[in-house]
Amino acid sequence: MIIDGLCADYSSSYCPCILAETGECVVCSQVNGSDFCDCKISGGFCVQQELIRNGGKAKPGRKTYECKVSTIIHFDDLVFLRVQVPHELEMEVKRPGGFVFVRRMEDETWFDTPISVMYEELNVGSIALSILLRGVKTSRFANIAEGDTLLVRGPYTSGLLGLRHIEKQQAGKSLVLAKGIGLLPSMAVIRYLQSRHNEVDVYLDEGGFPASISKFCLDLFDLHYKPINILDPAGQLREEVKETILRFAVSGGTLIHVGGSEYVIRKIAEYIESVGLGSIRLSACNNATMCCGEGICGACSETTAGKHVIHRCKEQVNPRKI
Ligand code: FES
Repeated sequence: MIIDGLCADYSSSYCPCILAETGECVVCSQVNGSDFCDCKISGGFCVQQELIRNGGKAKPGRKTYECKVSTIIHFDDLVFLRVQVPHELEMEVKRPGGFVFVRRMEDETWFDTPISVMYEELNVGSIALSILLRGVKTSRFANIAEGDTLLVRGPYTSGLLGLRHIEKQQAGKSLVLAKGIGLLPSMAVIRYLQSRHNEVDVYLDEGGFPASISKFCLDLFDLHYKPINILDPAGQLREEVKETILRFAVSGGTLIHVGGSEYVIRKIAEYIESVGLGSIRLSACNNATMCCGEGICGACSETTAGKHVIHRCKEQVNPRKI
């Protein structure tokens, strides 16, 4: 695992955050106690300077908003919600990798659930969320209804890895390989790439994911896909996937997005490396367990080969190296 970019909050309105205040910043060596500045990778924004300007304190963190549910569709185990949100939240979270933590108003003391925000046009005063009822936290949304109030905390932006590649991709060719529930966070990527005039080929391996739900999601946004099986019974990449990747590269494709487990992402990344397609840019969904989203609780932490602990809610890691 290597770090492939700056902190997700670098230079945002939340920077410097509590990590800079406590000397644990993931970007700035000087606020962490070093005599030297080694932030040559960062551009035009000095975390230390901002911290001094702010009296040595972190900027105010994310807020929790009380938001009304304006539309709701229950479809099998999926709940599709449209939630009215303040303009400031909508503007920041409707981008690839954008997500929020939600819980129901009556569950004030319950746990937050991190949910990806759909990419769509701005200035409509609401965001769209898809919640699959799968566990202790998401099952609380089983009987949610229009007019109910949600507590929405955000915005957070590190729901994807390789974000800078997605944001750079314009009027090019992209390939999306999604497996199972990885389809849901990948839908924002597909729609974002399409909005930037990219030709996007979508391949979906439904795996154990209910076919009715993937059809519902794709129909909702009029997205087309080709079915594929990504892994064989031995857990290796199938030939049809390898051929699809090679055909894509030969035809001038430049970005592959993988919506799947860490294992699937690693298998595809290894294959791309092994056939010398280093120029293909890779992005993937961020499967880390998100809890605080602020680099503090440690739920999303991993240790790199260099024995450096990183927090995947903050630091973008290279999908080729997970
Ligand atoms: S989610 Fe808490 S440290 Fe990343």
